[in-house]
Amino acid sequence: MENTACLDLQGVTKTFGGLHAISGVDLNLAVGERRAIIGPNGAGKTTLFNLICGELFPSEGAILLFGQDVTKLPVHKRISLGISRTYQVTNLFPELTVLENLLLAAQGTNRAKFVMFRPMSFYREFYERAETILDEFNLQVQRDTQVKNLSHGEQRQVEVCLALIGQPRLLLLDEPTAGLSNAETQSFTATLKKIDPQITVLLIEHDMDVAFELADSITVLHLGELVISGKAEDIKNNKTVQEIYFGTEV
Ligand SMILES: Nc1ncnc2c1ncn2[C@@H]1O[C@H](COP(=O)(O)OP(=O)(O)OP(=O)(O)O)[C@@H](O)[C@H]1O
Ligand SMILES: [Mg+2]
Repeated sequence: MENTACLDLQGVTKTFGGLHAISGVDLNLAVGERRAIIGPNGAGKTTLFNLICGELFPSEGAILLFGQDVTKLPVHKRISLGISRTYQVTNLFPELTVLENLLLAAQGTNRAKFVMFRPMSFYREFYERAETILDEFNLQVQRDTQVKNLSHGEQRQVEVCLALIGQPRLLLLDEPTAGLSNAETQSFTATLKKIDPQITVLLIEHDMDVAFELADSITVLHLGELVISGKAEDIKNNKTVQEIYFGTEV
């Protein structure tokens, strides 16, 4: 099963009443691939993430994760198969510290979470993992700060740390750099580039420069349909993409 795709969407469609939020999308991600999804507001990007994670179920089509059909599996089952995500809107516990948020997330993703009595070494593993991630993201100074006292940029980074603590195999990032300053975006992008290359990353990104910097290839969504997937140059030169973004004639 060496060549099994990490993620395989086959004709995925999602309708809300009469609205086709996602229409017949085929998407295939190789293990370790970095793919960006771009597209105007309302294109269906977040809906696609919700379908991949199991927060929504498709009206038609199939979703395979590492070759396994997960189309009907609920969120927690998909998490245990290795999916993790961040949200477009910040989703942290503001009263808790950075470390506490990380430890909670670690416990939430651990398969043994319902065991009542565990050796201390069990918790030590969570701590060690949290400390490693804080080092990687240069967030040690903020370790004991309540999340509500962090800058917006720091909060976005903590969210990615949370998504990584369960050691996912597929990481979905919904606009990780939204609301960040240029300088924050640059340093955050550099950090995201250091994510373990074994982890497959699918990210929604409004900032084309960030998308081109982080991703091997780009997929463009428009009105729920997949317009094109390709390398940065192909996307930039594609007439349909230019029309969608800049309103130029095809
Ligand atoms: N739960 C829902 N019920 C009804 N309509 C929905 C629901 N979720 C999304 N939609 C609609 O589906 C379409 C796609 O929305 P979606 O949030 O996926 O777009 P997006 O590409 O993530 O946009 P943005 O760039 O603004 O985040 C929109 O028209 C939206 O109003
Ligand atoms: Mg969205």
